[in-house]
Formats: sequence, C-alpha cells, structure tokens
Amino acid sequence: MKKSIAIFSATTLILLVLIGFGLWVLIDRQNNKNSGVPNNTSTEQQAKTFTLNEVASHNSRTDCWTIISGQVYELTDFINRHPGGDEVLRACGTDATTLFTSRTTKDGQSIGSGTPHSQAAQEQLDQLKLGTLAK
Ligand code: HEM
Repeated sequence: MKKSIAIFSATTLILLVLIGFGLWVLIDRQNNKNSGVPNNTSTEQQAKTFTLNEVASHNSRTDCWTIISGQVYELTDFINRHPGGDEVLRACGTDATTLFTSRTTKDGQSIGSGTPHSQAAQEQLDQLKLGTLAK
C-alpha cells in the first residue's frame, strides 16, 4: 500500500514538473514574440507614408508639413519656437532637405549663417516626425 502511494506521489510530482516546464516554454515563446528586434522591424514597416502632393497641401503657417531627407515632419507647432524665426516657413509644403541641411536655398542664397543646423536641431526634428515620403 505504502509502495503504491509512493509510486503515485512520484508520478504526480513528475507530471507537475513536466506541466510546469511546458508552461514555462510556452510563456517564454510568447514573450519573445512580443519584444525585441523582430517587433521593432514590424513597427517600422507600419510607419505612415505620404505623397509629395499630400505634403504640398500643408503649406501654411497654421498647417505646415515638410520633407527632409525622405522623412515627413509636421512643423506647425514648432514655427513659433524656431530660433531662426519665420525663415522656417520656407520649408512648409516643400522638400526642405537643402534648406535644413545647409541653410541655403536651392539657388544658392544663404539663409542666416548659411551653415548646417546643429545636432540639437536634428534632435528636435526627430520629435516632429509624421512618417516617410512614398517612393
Ligand atoms: C528648413 C527650413 C529652415 C530654415 C530656412 C531655417 C533657418 C534658420 C536660421 C536662419 C537660423 C538662425 C541661425 C543661423 O542663421 O545660423 C536657425 C536656427 C535654428 N533652427 Fe532653423 N531653419 C529651418 C528649419 C528648422 C527646423 C525644421 C528645425 C528643427 C525642428 C530648426 C531648428 C533650429 C535650431 C535649433 C536653431 C538654432 C541654431 C542651431 O541649432 O543650428 N530649424 N534656423
């Protein structure tokens, strides 16, 4: 009798350990699915894309989008905080890559210092991103 109780207890214990291990493997797999590099990649793939025409229609002080290096940004709320004042309005509704990266117009006219914006400016820009320009 004692022997059969011992066998029953040992079998139950082994079963519990196996079930526990199985659950641990399942939970671990689930966690890997929900985090890490693969998920970041899929978030990037879901990033919004906009056409040049769409950006071009946001071309005023009260509704200002721009394109810089293939990325689309909304500048509306930033305009009044821009250290270079209203010069930033030149970017609204256009591809402002040259303007931003060299503070020079496409026909070579210097705007302000005519030098590239600082790293801090690039970091502020990152906060204003809406998505990517459609290819
Ligand atoms: C694309 C059109 C833009 C033009 C024409 C423009 C022009 C200027 C000008 C003339 C200045 C004054 C300093 C100087 O003359 O060197 C300035 C400063 C500055 N701008 Fe812009 N800007 C533009 C867009 C932006 C954007 C989109 C940002 C960031 C979101 C930005 C951030 C800054 C900052 C932080 C400064 C202070 C100096 C620096 O850090 O480089 N600007 N900008």
